[in-house]
Amino acid sequence: MKIILNGAAGRMGRVVSELIHEDPTLELVAGVDPMAGDEAGIATSLDAVDAAADVLVDFSNHEATRALVDYAVARDIPLVIATTGQTPEELALIKDAAERVPVFFASNYSLGVALLAKLAKIAAEFLPNPEVEIVETHHDQKLDAPSGTALTLARVVREAMPGSKIVIGREGLHKRDRGEITVHSLRLGHVTGVHEVIISSGNEMVSLTHTAESRTLFAEGALAAVRFLAGKEPGLYSMEDLVEGASA
Ligand SMILES: NC(=O)c1ccc[n+]([C@@H]2O[C@H](COP(=O)([O-])OP(=O)(O)OC[C@H]3O[C@@H](n4cnc5c(N)ncnc54)[C@H](O)[C@@H]3O)[C@@H](O)[C@H]2O)c1
Repeated sequence: MKIILNGAAGRMGRVVSELIHEDPTLELVAGVDPMAGDEAGIATSLDAVDAAADVLVDFSNHEATRALVDYAVARDIPLVIATTGQTPEELALIKDAAERVPVFFASNYSLGVALLAKLAKIAAEFLPNPEVEIVETHHDQKLDAPSGTALTLARVVREAMPGSKIVIGREGLHKRDRGEITVHSLRLGHVTGVHEVIISSGNEMVSLTHTAESRTLFAEGALAAVRFLAGKEPGLYSMEDLVEGASA
């Protein structure tokens, strides 16, 4: 499969490129990154890329969203979007694009995080009157806070708590509302990614933690999504679809 990689000079872009080069069934036909300078094989803009491709993979910046979806729709190329931090307008562009081409969109391509979401939802359903706090920790260069994964976890848990609301951080002089799902962000050193969901019923507390030990797992997940999209109809696909496809 021929792949165009957006954000090719970034931390994740480098790991994805390595995995593509190691896999004889995959070929990197073009990399794109405005910070690439005159690095061989990497264009500074998608507009400069005219290679035939089976899929466009994105690990860049949410500001690239419009150019990304326009490129994919105009050339009828499936999209795997791993970038996080999109604005509501950019999320709407992704949804629109999914009506025209297959789009895989996940804030976290780890199978372990998919499992964490499932377990956290079960815990919030099982414990009476749950209070939920989500704490995410990432390296000090991460741009968006809270992480896309923490927000996804909060939305999944909210499905188990009718009437609850997601709150970002806490300050000021007021008590916690019982129906709050509160998300906190820590930024430290080189941490690849830790997500903890803490659920309290008042008398007991359950804490579920996922730790990403290397960036490779996200790259592997994104390339699994590349293979998953082969031959798919237009639509918006997620890790749930990938996990179900694998266990079917
Ligand atoms: N979904 C997941 O599983 C997952 C995992 C890790 C990282 N991410 C996300 O992927 C993105 C990249 O992460 P990273 O750690 O590699 O960041 P990074 O800052 O190291 O790399 C981002 C790269 O994108 C480039 N870029 C910026 N604007 C661009 C544009 N308009 N077009 C093309 N390239 C552009 C930058 O020059 C940079 O080289 C972030 O949004 C991050 O949150 C997602």
